[in-house]
Amino acid sequence: MTSPETSPSFGLFGLGTMGSALALNIVDNGFELHVANRSAARVDDFITEAGALANKLTGHNSLVAMAQAMPNPRVIILMVPAGAAVDASIADLKPHLQPGDVVIDAGNADFNETRRRTAEMEQAGLAFLGMGVSGGEDGARNGPSIMVGGTQSVWQGVRPLVDAIAAKFDGAPCADRLGTDGAGHFVKTVHNGIEYADMQVIAETYGLMRRGKSMDPAAIGQVFDRWNTGPLKSYLVEITGAVLGATDSATNAPLVDVIVDAAGQKGTGRWTVIEALKLGVAASTIEAAVGARVWSADRDGRAVGEALFAPTRGDVDLSEADIEQAMLAARIIGHSQGFDLLTAASAQFDWALDMARISEIWRAGCIIRSALLDDIATAFRAGAPEGKLAFAPAMVDQLNATIPALRRLVGAAITAGHPVPVLSNALQWFDGMTQARGSADVIQGQRDYFGRHGFDRVDGLPGRHGPWAD
Ligand SMILES: NC(=O)c1ccc[n+]([C@@H]2O[C@H](COP(=O)([O-])OP(=O)(O)OC[C@H]3O[C@@H](n4cnc5c(N)ncnc54)[C@H](OP(=O)(O)O)[C@@H]3O)[C@@H](O)[C@H]2O)c1
Repeated sequence: MTSPETSPSFGLFGLGTMGSALALNIVDNGFELHVANRSAARVDDFITEAGALANKLTGHNSLVAMAQAMPNPRVIILMVPAGAAVDASIADLKPHLQPGDVVIDAGNADFNETRRRTAEMEQAGLAFLGMGVSGGEDGARNGPSIMVGGTQSVWQGVRPLVDAIAAKFDGAPCADRLGTDGAGHFVKTVHNGIEYADMQVIAETYGLMRRGKSMDPAAIGQVFDRWNTGPLKSYLVEITGAVLGATDSATNAPLVDVIVDAAGQKGTGRWTVIEALKLGVAASTIEAAVGARVWSADRDGRAVGEALFAPTRGDVDLSEADIEQAMLAARIIGHSQGFDLLTAASAQFDWALDMARISEIWRAGCIIRSALLDDIATAFRAGAPEGKLAFAPAMVDQLNATIPALRRLVGAAITAGHPVPVLSNALQWFDGMTQARGSADVIQGQRDYFGRHGFDRVDGLPGRHGPWAD
């Protein structure tokens, strides 16, 4: 293991969008860095592009050549696509590694694979960290939010570099080791799940203003600009203002109107939903957001549906303040569901995740950074009943103030025929989770009727079956 006293040499493999930006960030912070890339030609180009920072970079023709040239102990960061490329890179490296070396997977790995890789590396006496990096290219270059999983002693060895390159909030690095093995990649996955929900909520409110209030994109962009000065202040609201304000140079039309309305996805939203289902956690806002991206990608299907049903979509009578408050309510609930998932995974995998700390490292650098996350960190530090973010006193106050607007928005949107899958799911979660006695008594009766599953009685008396059991 590296210790804080031993200064390791650092190497980075994979000079794509994220790897190049992260490499420049590392050398910009005074570290020497060895670099390599699958296509070796990219290495020279990258070093040339690095300009004044080039003297801190040493290029190599291959991953193995890089590892062999690096002084011990070595820290090798992989920034390649998740999956087979990571396994192949580790397989190439393994024969050349020694105890004390650390391999870091900084891509968007499936945390299950990170757990497997960590175990395999540790069985071979080697160290491995799974490191979730959020912030896109700009974050990677200027300071991302970094979520690390792995052994504490290994983390301590790389911490100076990670702290140096991370985003800072009030001067403190937005980076930490959050738990063992796959903890960092799991937290990064859930971050992306929350990101899916937040982006979809923004898209839904845009759709309502565009088609339910007949506003043009630039005017809607100005609304987002205004919202970015209030409680919705966030990176995603800020960039939405910029996207909606942009004009297409070829046609002079609003840029958003020439963009195909089919959302891409690389898997982290879907992984969040899969893990939520496996852990028995309701992440309905995130699930709705993944589903909405799937619908969006089915352009042919939507065109057929519109032709078949010729739906009319009416106007919505909603104020800007109503939409703003509804979005805030849905944002709180989306985050609350994400944190519920983190809580369940923490118990399942024995990670002891610190929800306040996670909120803190999401306050800068990452895609979901927002004013709300500062409130969330404070709320978790103050304590949340049942561990639920939405039930923390500060969040209860905010939800009490904003749920009426969410109710008005969902009612208006559904009546007028505008799709609002995440906003409506957020409201459904709220209505379900604020009902001490719901309607699942009927489900238990049904289950007992057809499957003799039995039920608990409210009065504690014995008698776990209905009369049909006789
Ligand atoms: N883009 C983002 O906003 C973002 C944000 C957070 C995390 N991530 C994650 O960061 C990782 C890298 O993403 P990126 O956006 O930088 O991708 P990218 O621009 O497509 O670059 C991919 C890099 O991986 C290399 N590579 C591809 N297949 C490989 C293989 N089979 N073996 C070895 N190297 C291989 C490529 O080398 P060649 O030059 O030879 O093709 C290139 O250097 C991914 O896990 C991604 O999910 C991305």
